[in-house]
Amino acid sequence: MHPLTPDKKELDPIETASRDEIEALQFHRMKRSLKHAFNHSPFYRNRFIEHDVHPEDLKSLADIAKFPFTTKQDLRDTYPFGMFAVPQSKLVRIHGSSGTTGKPTVVGYTQADIDHWADLVARSIRAAGGRPGDMVHVAYGYGLFTGGLGAHYGAERLGCTVVPISGGMTERQVTLINDFRPRIIMVTPSYMLSILDEFRRQGLDPRQSSLEIGIFGAEPWTNAMRREIEDAFDMHAVDIYGLSEIMGPGVAMECVETKDGLHIWEDHFYPEIIDPATGAVLPDGETGELVITTLTKEGLPMVRYRTRDLTRLLPGTARSMRRIDKITGRSDDMIILRGVNVFPTQIEEQILKCKGLAPHFQIELTRSGRLDSMTVHVECAPEMADEAARAHSARELAHHIKSVVGVSTRIEVKDPGAIARSEGKARRVVDNRPKT
Ligand code: DLL
Repeated sequence: MHPLTPDKKELDPIETASRDEIEALQFHRMKRSLKHAFNHSPFYRNRFIEHDVHPEDLKSLADIAKFPFTTKQDLRDTYPFGMFAVPQSKLVRIHGSSGTTGKPTVVGYTQADIDHWADLVARSIRAAGGRPGDMVHVAYGYGLFTGGLGAHYGAERLGCTVVPISGGMTERQVTLINDFRPRIIMVTPSYMLSILDEFRRQGLDPRQSSLEIGIFGAEPWTNAMRREIEDAFDMHAVDIYGLSEIMGPGVAMECVETKDGLHIWEDHFYPEIIDPATGAVLPDGETGELVITTLTKEGLPMVRYRTRDLTRLLPGTARSMRRIDKITGRSDDMIILRGVNVFPTQIEEQILKCKGLAPHFQIELTRSGRLDSMTVHVECAPEMADEAARAHSARELAHHIKSVVGVSTRIEVKDPGAIARSEGKARRVVDNRPKT
């Protein structure tokens, strides 16, 4: 794996601007965006009036804390188009994310929104070490999900050659990677593991593949998983973050030269971290829920959108814009087991410490009487499939989880291939507790 250092001359000037310049731009754009929301979205006009705030009340960036939050429930309550700030005829694209209720959360983009999005994904691919002329294999799903088309437009905008394969048909993914020789792959980290299995099944050495850069996101993943994928493919693995309510992929991106968290593209998004219980804004460096205000969105401006994603804000490094730490998980995915908070990413980290296990796992929650229990279903590494090795791995993992995470778990070590594979976002938790 060669070190990659993008040429600073190729960056957008704002990527290396001073904090004062960035904040001046943010303030100007935030003011304009609040006015746009108030004047053109009946939802926001009513919300602001109910909370007795007006765009003119914004005298500094910190004043955004006077404004009410927006939640996913607001999008559900106004389904499908009730929060939009432009007439439908001005929208050039609709996306959505599948919800648990069956109806998707619907978002819409004007041409200017799509242009900004493409610019930011292009900037993100460049931060990953990509450059014009590279071939990009896009294995994020195409469709209402923002992953495929978001990556696609950004890669084209940078001047790359896009292979729009979408998710699924893993055998064909590997064939095309071998035949077309892309330098970059954009895919969920869990699906990258399925592609890795398929390389091995076909007797191919993944380290000999043409892939040099993987741009992984859409679900939480750990630095331990980064090392696993980087070693397996001899490639750089970097993190991309986004959510459809705000834009899609490319809200924040890790730089390949530092791999130290994700720079949030602050010229288009204003981040805050809040205490999820009280809503109070927390200082940089403290962990809490990420809240984002869009600064340039026309179709669906978002004011203080509560992402439910847990992270903290850190100062800029490779770029002047602040970073978010790798996302630990969503507050909705947090398991509370006998008083201890557990995230699937913590389990992932412990699994990757055990040589006898493969990184395919699922957490099952059950209840007997009033006691909740957690079982970790995990696959053994193919070369460690005998009974004694499995029993040893199970004890080792239970020990790591108990001593690092602080909970007792049952471990079920399964055959290679026994855990259902995702073609997009992995389903890490199966909750079999009776509904109360
Ligand atoms: O997952 C957009 C996306 C596509 C991002 C491709 C990156 C790559 P949604 O389906 O709306 O949009 O899901 C958004 O996924 O709130 C997080 O909980 C989670 N998520 C996205 N990126 C990351 C990441 C897309 N890098 C939700 N790390 C978000 C952890 C992530 N979680």
